[in-house]
Amino acid sequence: MINMFLTKKEEQMCDGEFGETIRKSMDILVALGDIYGASKLVDITSAQVSGVSYKTIGEAGLEYLEDLAGDGLGVASVNASLNPPGTDLDNWEELGFPREFAIKQNQIVDAYGELGIAKTCTCTPYLVGNVPRFRDHISWSESSAVAYGNSVIGARTNREGGPAALAAAIVGKTPLYGFHLEQNRKANLVVNVNCELKGADFGALGYVIGKVVGGGVPYFKLQNIPNNNDLKTLGAALASSGSVALYHVENVTPEADIAGKGEVEDIMFITEKEILSTREKLSTTDKEPDLICLGCPHASLEEIKQVANIVKGKTIKNKLWICTSVSVKATADRMGYTQTIESAGGNVVCDTCMVVAPIEDMGFEVIGVNSAKAANYVPSMCGLDVVYNDVENLIQFE
Ligand code: F3S
Repeated sequence: MINMFLTKKEEQMCDGEFGETIRKSMDILVALGDIYGASKLVDITSAQVSGVSYKTIGEAGLEYLEDLAGDGLGVASVNASLNPPGTDLDNWEELGFPREFAIKQNQIVDAYGELGIAKTCTCTPYLVGNVPRFRDHISWSESSAVAYGNSVIGARTNREGGPAALAAAIVGKTPLYGFHLEQNRKANLVVNVNCELKGADFGALGYVIGKVVGGGVPYFKLQNIPNNNDLKTLGAALASSGSVALYHVENVTPEADIAGKGEVEDIMFITEKEILSTREKLSTTDKEPDLICLGCPHASLEEIKQVANIVKGKTIKNKLWICTSVSVKATADRMGYTQTIESAGGNVVCDTCMVVAPIEDMGFEVIGVNSAKAANYVPSMCGLDVVYNDVENLIQFE
């Protein structure tokens, strides 16, 4: 029995009158809505679909996608884009990705393409044209993108699983509960930071607070104004050590004024000492990294420019990857940043990242990262050591 209200057309979708792909998608959305007590479905303007790497979804995931696309009748009905896969789709061979893995990976991405999900292959959809408006309902599933979409853009999404976001992309609706409701978007912890932050400090802050707040909504009072790259770093860290989907930053993020911080009783103070000790704790070794892997979440053009300026005219000692989308790289190519980085011995790697790529099978042992999310996941998901630091301290030259 379905508890949530459905319109006549939605009932017909559930009954298979619009084809099997839509029926199966409605099954997922209705089940989810009933579990979380949603009153109804709400229209969305955007979807972002995770569950792409062959490393995480495997053969079963590929079969599921090919089966779902089977009747050819259901494709994404809203602006929908894809999360990173496990390879650079075009340059996997020259970067040393395993052949069999790369072939399977391309099949998965093609299956998503059949379902109308744009093969943008990035966790920063907001940098490549999938940009909702303030207060839009959306269905995003990559956790750092969710944090950015909710917090920096002010759109409304829960942390969707890949299949739910895919179903929402196809139907164009999502169940109305959780962060789609105004009352759940208020802060429940005020965080006073008593020092200025820069670079990898933002990840350290997010890592500490994510652990404390879990799935809550922190409200930050910072000493200096973060830029959008800092906010994506902060959100990714909050979403990885905790399950934060929404945060506010005083005088910065769009809902900070209405976040209800005045009613919040829980207050924390973060000192410089705590930031420094967290930065140290995020490294699992003091060995030199054999791969520096930047771009978690996927690098913006400004971040690629920053690296190009650091390495210009020099020769990098370790291997260097900067992970980004194919769209951002195209502009980096035009600006000459890619060539500068390649001349120094680095690579601008498209589509994939250090967590979803099979880097553990590619001969690397220690990964240098400037992202607390990557520092958190590389040891657990890839079984490798990490060194956490700012870009300029990670890259060593001949
Ligand atoms: Fe994106 Fe991979 Fe980091 S998906 S947020 S670059 S772990």
